[in-house]
Amino acid sequence: MASSRLNQARDRRFDLVALLLGLMVATASAQPPQRQAAPKGPWMDKSLSPDQRAEMVVQEMTLDEKISMLHGRGGFLAEGAISNGGAGVIQGVPRLGLLPIQLADSAVGVRAAAERGRYSTLLPSTIALAAAWDSNLAYEYGELIGRELRDQQYQASLGAGVNLMREPRNGRNFEYAGEDPILAGKTVAQLVKGLQSQKVIGDIKHYALNDQETGRNIGDVKMSRRVMRQTDLLAFEIAILESQPGMVMCSYNKVNGDWACENDYLLNQLLKKTWGFKGAVISDWNATHTTAKAALAGLDAEQPGGPSERARFGDALKKAVDAGEVPMSRVDEMVHRILRTAFAAGVVDDPPLGRVVDPFKGAATAQRVAEQSSVLLKNANSLLPLDAARVKSIAIIGSKADTSVLSGGGSAQVDPPGGGASRFGGPAIWFPSSPLNAVRGKAPRAKVEYHDGVDVKAAAAFAKTSEIAIVFVNEPTTEGRDMPSLNLSGTQNELVSAVAAANPRTIVVLETGGPAAMPWIDSVGAAIEIWYPGIRGAEALANILFGDVNPQAKLPATFAKSDADLPHPAIFGFDQLPKPGATPPPGTPGAPPQRFQMKPFDIDYTEGLKVGYKWFQAENKQPLFAFGHGLSYTSFAYSDLTATIDSVSFKVRNTGKRAGAEIAQVYAGLPASANEPPKRLVAWEKVLLSPGEVKTVTLKLDPKFLSIFNEDKDDWELLSGDYRIFVGGASDSTPLSAPVRR
Ligand code: BGC
Repeated sequence: MASSRLNQARDRRFDLVALLLGLMVATASAQPPQRQAAPKGPWMDKSLSPDQRAEMVVQEMTLDEKISMLHGRGGFLAEGAISNGGAGVIQGVPRLGLLPIQLADSAVGVRAAAERGRYSTLLPSTIALAAAWDSNLAYEYGELIGRELRDQQYQASLGAGVNLMREPRNGRNFEYAGEDPILAGKTVAQLVKGLQSQKVIGDIKHYALNDQETGRNIGDVKMSRRVMRQTDLLAFEIAILESQPGMVMCSYNKVNGDWACENDYLLNQLLKKTWGFKGAVISDWNATHTTAKAALAGLDAEQPGGPSERARFGDALKKAVDAGEVPMSRVDEMVHRILRTAFAAGVVDDPPLGRVVDPFKGAATAQRVAEQSSVLLKNANSLLPLDAARVKSIAIIGSKADTSVLSGGGSAQVDPPGGGASRFGGPAIWFPSSPLNAVRGKAPRAKVEYHDGVDVKAAAAFAKTSEIAIVFVNEPTTEGRDMPSLNLSGTQNELVSAVAAANPRTIVVLETGGPAAMPWIDSVGAAIEIWYPGIRGAEALANILFGDVNPQAKLPATFAKSDADLPHPAIFGFDQLPKPGATPPPGTPGAPPQRFQMKPFDIDYTEGLKVGYKWFQAENKQPLFAFGHGLSYTSFAYSDLTATIDSVSFKVRNTGKRAGAEIAQVYAGLPASANEPPKRLVAWEKVLLSPGEVKTVTLKLDPKFLSIFNEDKDDWELLSGDYRIFVGGASDSTPLSAPVRR
């Protein structure tokens, strides 16, 4: 009772904040940035296809109008009236009543809302979503972002990132969907489908191989076609084919010698020809290096552009057309792709009119995602869940857990409610969702106190006096910067070790954007990874800690014991960065504004196909926690596997005392002649089971996921030979296996 009263009180506080925010939104929405006559013309006939409609508009446009559509006018509020405050704008055609397309970063919620007096929901990070292995949830996540983009009068999102986690220290891993191409591709496909269901243009980025931030503007990724197609590009292939996004954003880096935004293989040959992508390729911000080469290689639009005389796809493109370097037909195609995308998404017929964001609906979704994406890594002697009726005292330690949860930085940064606008490269932003209050709400009779953990000895002494200690550790990550190591920064490892030494009932909660090393893991009772958990992170966590929610998520990436076990002990190009304590060179966050140019370097991913768990299995290395690992408060048993090359069937039983969900995973080993890593994920299903219940799971196997990419044939090939199917609850726990011949 008391607990629910406290919860209600907290909810009411949340309601008040939300109401105030809503009023701010209403005020902001009262000044729409775009006022223009409704579009008229034969292309407004909705019975025509998006291609027919686009073609009609192209026929009407002058060359200047076409050129103006192909470069932005500068990011954020640079262009005053024509910008809605997002990262960029695709200019419209005022003469024809066609509105500009307002673009907003919205990886984990709509960015830069506070700048315009608006509010956006902060969702758990994309990596968290991948940890849920749940297509419905991914759709819902995308729907929320799409809805809030429309509410804020944006026509297009900038991302859905699906870069593969080849590098667990990449500062943007929190914006991506993990290390497996199929899980990542399917997760992002559902997200984009959900987003586009709201009549907003979806975008998939950063195409391709932008798997580290260090030297992202200069690094040249070297990789064979087979490796690319089976790893990083497979994630894009799945996401793009399944969701048909309106846009794909090409990345900053080079791939095999050519910039990604002028890479004929990536853009023309693969994306447009082989995959049949009908939308527009837009450049990452300032990633357009040339005019004719980029236009001919398949780049359709430059962002953020700027005044026509300075843009590569401005006056320079007009000159290139006049000089015959870029045919007019190509310019028409570029414009066609943008217009087609706008018609297909519905933003011309049904432009976003602006509406108050619903913070309650957003918070409810954010909480559900957090509950389903937090991974219980360790739970010795069933320390968790805590029994609210019995627990007498809990020490909460570290990571601002008295007030807040962490969010990820860079262009995926969502502004905090009621707070000021966040600054790119500025300090990490903490959101008001208080673990201390949430735990107090669950155990109202217990003594629940907080210590900031700065003084390690004092924190350990504080932990000693409590029955339970919950230590929070965190690692802020951001676009533009990688982590030097998997080790948690500062004195956090010492803090955990000291607290665990003082109190055997220590639970560690990690707020990280990806894998972290845990040298103290053997000394703690339990550990739970909550990623950057979003605006209701603390409430979701408390539900898990006290067993109102049974954890069900599984890791979408391998957690290595240490950097030494990774394919590359250090990040490529990291040696060029200033050493800690040295004056940062211009261009790095907090440094003078001139551009800091690193010397060109190659990024040679020598591990090739062995990304993530495939590396650990092929090299016989024991990870700290394997890909696919995640515990529940109940237990599951697998039996009765039958498998063919097309489908598998098996039983899962809940052998414990609580209802729970198991993410059952199917892996395949290919014939020896394929020369592949031992196992690859090929299918999975989340199975909900009450205690004692058994369900039969039958899953189709997609032949592409069992294939290799044959470079000579330039196509996928399902080899003949002996396969092996493995089934279980993690990549390192597959109790069932069966041979399959093809
Ligand atoms: C990022 C993109 C982002 C763009 C616009 C770039 O720095 O790499 O992901 O969409 O900025 O903010």
